[in-house]
Amino acid sequence: MTKSRYTVTAALPYANGPLHLGHIAGVYLPADIFVRFLRMNGHDVAFICGSDEHGAAITLRAKKEGITPQEIVDKYNKIIGDSFKKFDISFDIFHRTSSELHHQTAQDFFLKLNQNNKFVEETTEQYFDEEFQQFLADRYITGECPKCQNPNAYGDQCEKCGTDLSPTELINPKSTLSGKTPVLKSTSHWFLPMDRHESWLRPWIKEGILDGKQQHDPKAWRNQVIGQSLSWIDSGLHSRAMTRDLDWGVKVPLEGADGKVLYVWLDAPIGYISATKQWAIDNKKDWKDYWTGDTKLVHFIGKDNIVFHAIIFPILLKDHGDLILPDNVPAYEFLNLEGDKFSTSRNWAVWLHEYLERYPDKMDELKYTLTAIAPESKDSEFTWKEFQTRVNSELADILGNFVNRALVLTQKYYEGKVPDLGELTEADQQVLADLEQFPSKIEKLIYAYKLRDAQTEVMNLARLGNKYLAENEPWKLVKVNPKRVETIMYIALQITANLSLLLEPFLPSTAKKLRTFLNLDLPTWSETGKANILKTGDLVKTPEILFPKIEDSLVEAEIEFLKVSQQNPVVEEKPLAPQKPNVSFDDFTKLDIRLGTILEAEKVPKADKLLKLKVDTGIDIRTIVSGIAEHYAPEDIVGKTVSVLLNLEPRKIRGVESQGMILMAENEKGELSFMNPEKSFGAGGEIS
Ligand code: MF3
Ligand code: ZN
Repeated sequence: MTKSRYTVTAALPYANGPLHLGHIAGVYLPADIFVRFLRMNGHDVAFICGSDEHGAAITLRAKKEGITPQEIVDKYNKIIGDSFKKFDISFDIFHRTSSELHHQTAQDFFLKLNQNNKFVEETTEQYFDEEFQQFLADRYITGECPKCQNPNAYGDQCEKCGTDLSPTELINPKSTLSGKTPVLKSTSHWFLPMDRHESWLRPWIKEGILDGKQQHDPKAWRNQVIGQSLSWIDSGLHSRAMTRDLDWGVKVPLEGADGKVLYVWLDAPIGYISATKQWAIDNKKDWKDYWTGDTKLVHFIGKDNIVFHAIIFPILLKDHGDLILPDNVPAYEFLNLEGDKFSTSRNWAVWLHEYLERYPDKMDELKYTLTAIAPESKDSEFTWKEFQTRVNSELADILGNFVNRALVLTQKYYEGKVPDLGELTEADQQVLADLEQFPSKIEKLIYAYKLRDAQTEVMNLARLGNKYLAENEPWKLVKVNPKRVETIMYIALQITANLSLLLEPFLPSTAKKLRTFLNLDLPTWSETGKANILKTGDLVKTPEILFPKIEDSLVEAEIEFLKVSQQNPVVEEKPLAPQKPNVSFDDFTKLDIRLGTILEAEKVPKADKLLKLKVDTGIDIRTIVSGIAEHYAPEDIVGKTVSVLLNLEPRKIRGVESQGMILMAENEKGELSFMNPEKSFGAGGEIS
């Protein structure tokens, strides 16, 4: 029987920041395990990912970092792509939505739906920032949540109570560009009339029935996915705009649509298709094989993406007409960290790229722990203490210990040669019968997306091996009944060989190491469960320690590191202020700005921010009080030539008369910098 073909996607991460362990545990690692298993079990698979490079998430980040959106996506596409590679997530392609091929694919998709009247064009009133002359989409607008009164809700969603919002529902709306209250202005957009689709969505999600046929097994879908989707449908589906007034994104390919781009949640999932196309081009395949017919489409996502993958994208796929709908949408809950939510702004996170830099040789330890605690059905938590326990008392004491014993004894008794299988006792027969059951148990769990339990089951085989050796005590028997010991060691080695295959989806680098000890290639899943993977006379090597123990000092250092990083949170950056009203040239020339050299500097008592400076202005030497003490130490600035406003009316600050002002530049992070001359000018130069 030929096995079904799969297209497996992992949510495209926004290219606006690095990945933390929460992302890995709840999307990328489970997807990778699933795919590695499918490949080993003979399925034809395309494993698709890439970065999501449009939408307000990107433009807002670019503004914060003071660089262009293109620079932002280039930067994070590389950081994210590199960590996936290092962590050995086995995507067939890691693409990007800023590519030419994606823009083309998304535009064609949009045009096809538009030609078939799947959208409704409507003119509505949208908020507009008069100062910036720009419509304010989604996250460009904040205000009070009408449901929970959170004062910082966004135009598309309140992150506090999770309610989906539209900008006009916000109380006291403010533009994030100018900080001003926006005005309503009319603009036209293409809407997806989702209400038209209620009648087929309900049976499809509830029963897996599409066009009168059983399309998928609804029992294989997670309760959370079905529950959230049905509650959305039950509360009434509305039209949703599929275009936005923005200048960053995929342009709406129609005349008269200048300044309009596709909504990021229309463009991004189409990214799965364009990535498949690029992969097909690179590998001489036909992308359509992976998006039509009997192929199973599976979307691994986080729970905040459910409605987009279980409702909106399926509507779009069905409207398109030629393409398959998802067979399953395995969604993950959230992972917490040491008793708190992962948070970028509070810098409460373990970043994948940092972990890989610190522990390049502990990749499988992390994979094992994250799978063991994966938030499959409810939120879960990562702690360094649990990481240590999982590694020391499970990986090292159970798996590492068993493999080590089996291989070391084989060296000792038989110079590394696999011994003969002699007569079997009842207990031997039971162990071999148990061994045979493992692959189908594990396989069933994986097909049901229960990867946590599947990994536990693999570990149970190592437990079985330990128990078998402990009960039979070959180290005692070897003197009195060497023939019997050959059989025991033969069986222990076959268990080891099976582990080297069954572990492959979960801990690929450990599995590979094991196969190196055993001189095995990677056989297929169908060969697992058997007691003849190794043959009598085959040579095996002396093993190295698979999992060194994790010391308490590592746990302590990591917790300390988290606490310190939290005290140095990524500063909440403030947007650059808009331009002030114009002044006349005459007004400007009234300012007397010159270069001055700092001769002396000292702290002002009881004032954290102030330095008292003696400044040579070229025409005199005067005292200036400046609020720079948190940025510069007195001894570091003596001798510097800086810009000074001379004719600011003198005023007393903390009892000291300040005769002028040092001019400073301030960036979004609130850091200060002197305005130094670019040539080595001394005091007195006039600035105009
Ligand atoms: N970038 C989105 C997020 O991180 C996920 C996009 S998934 C896709 O939440 F389907 F749109 F590609
Ligand atoms: Zn709210």
